[in-house]
Amino acid sequence: MIPHDPNREQVDPRRLVLSDEKQRLYELICGQGYVPDGRNFSDFCESLRSGRAWLITGTRGSGKTAFPEAVAAACNLTVCMVAGRDGLKQEEILYDWDREEQAEWMAENLRSAKQLSGPERDAHMAGARRAKWKREFLVLGEMGLAYDLAARAAADPGAAPPVLILDESDKFGASLEDSLLMPLERGVIHIPRLVGGSIGSADGKSKPIVVTTSNDLRHKLSPPFVSRHIFSRFATPSLEKELEILSARCPSASTAQLALAIKLLDGVRGVAGLEDYPSLRESIDVLAAFARDGVEELDDEGLIRYFCYFVKTGESQELLKLQLDYLLMVATGFQPEIDGWLGKRDPEWGKRWTFRPPGRNPPPENDGFDIGEDA
Ligand SMILES: Nc1ncnc2c1ncn2[C@@H]1O[C@H](COP(=O)(O)OP(=O)(O)OP(=O)(O)O)[C@@H](O)[C@H]1O
Ligand SMILES: [Mg+2]
Repeated sequence: MIPHDPNREQVDPRRLVLSDEKQRLYELICGQGYVPDGRNFSDFCESLRSGRAWLITGTRGSGKTAFPEAVAAACNLTVCMVAGRDGLKQEEILYDWDREEQAEWMAENLRSAKQLSGPERDAHMAGARRAKWKREFLVLGEMGLAYDLAARAAADPGAAPPVLILDESDKFGASLEDSLLMPLERGVIHIPRLVGGSIGSADGKSKPIVVTTSNDLRHKLSPPFVSRHIFSRFATPSLEKELEILSARCPSASTAQLALAIKLLDGVRGVAGLEDYPSLRESIDVLAAFARDGVEELDDEGLIRYFCYFVKTGESQELLKLQLDYLLMVATGFQPEIDGWLGKRDPEWGKRWTFRPPGRNPPPENDGFDIGEDA
C-alpha cells in the first residue's frame, strides 16, 4: 500500500463526477502529465458513477497502469496494488490469519484459565476461542485493505476512497478471479469466523475505486469476472494524441526533438515484418533520450545508437538496419499531420515548412512543403 499524503487535501473523484465536475477531474489528471483519451476518460467516469470496477485491456505501454496511478497522484489517494503473477495466492490479496499470534493468545488464556475453577475456566476458554477470530489477528492483503479503507473513508467527510489497482489480471488465473467476484459485486469480503463477519461496505459509494488491467496474454478472463466491470480498450493513440502525450511527458524536449522522435517511431511502425512494434512507452523513452542528449538530427550511426530503445529483438534490429535510409528520410522529412500540429504550437516550426499557394513555384530558399493556410 502507498498511503496518501496526510498533509495534503484529498479529492474524491467519485464525488467530482457525481457533482458534474468531470472537467476538473480531467484537468487534475492532466496536471500529472497524463493525458487521458476522451473516450477512456468517459468510461472511467461511468465506472465511478456506477460504483463498478473498471477493466482496461489494451496493448503493452498504452497507459493502463499509469492511468489509475495518475488519478491517485492527482487526488492524493491511497494506492493498493495487486500485481498479477503466477502462483499469487488468495491470502496475499484478500486476508490471512496471524496463526502465531492466535496460538500465543490461546496459550496465554490457557495459562490464566488454570487459576480458575471448573465452570469459570470453561467460560473463560470459550470466550478466548471466540476472540481468537477478532479483527486484530486478521492480516489484510491489498484488496482486503482497500475495501476496509474505503468503508472507513466513507464515514469521514474529509477522506476519499483508495484506488485499488488489480494489475495484469490475466495472470491471476481462474481460482483467484473467482475469489474476487464477491467483493467486486457486493463491496464486502465475507470472512468465516471473523467477529463481525465481513469487512468493507455494501454501499456502492463506499467501495474503493477499482481499476483492473489486462494485456489479454496469459489467461482469458472469466465471463463472470469481466461482467463485474465497466469495460474499456486502450487503443494506440492517434499521432496528434501521441504528440500531446509526448509533450506532456517530456516538457523539456524541443520541437525538433519531438518531431524527430515521433516521425522516427511512426516510420518504424510502418515497416512490415517486425515481431513487435514500438508503443507509447518506447516513444516516450526515445524522446527523453533525445532531450537528455540534445539530439536534434540523426545520421546512420546516431540512429543505430538509439535502436536499443525501440527495437527489442535481434531479428528486428537486423531488419531495421536494412531500412536505415528509409527511417532517416521519414524522421527528417515533412509529415503533414505531425508538422501541422507542431506548427500550430510553435510558429517558428511552422515557418520551416512554408505555405505555398497552389500553382506557384517553390521559393528557392526552402523545401516548399505545403502544410495548409493555417500553418
Ligand atoms: N495518455 C498518456 N499520457 C501520458 N503518459 C502516458 C499515457 N499513456 C501512457 N503513458 C506513459 O507510457 C508509459 C507506459 O504506460 P503504462 O506502464 O501505464 O502502460 P501499460 O499499458 O500498463 O503497459 P503494460 O501492459 O506493459 O504494463 C508510462 O511512462 C506512462 O506514463
Ligand atoms: Mg502496466
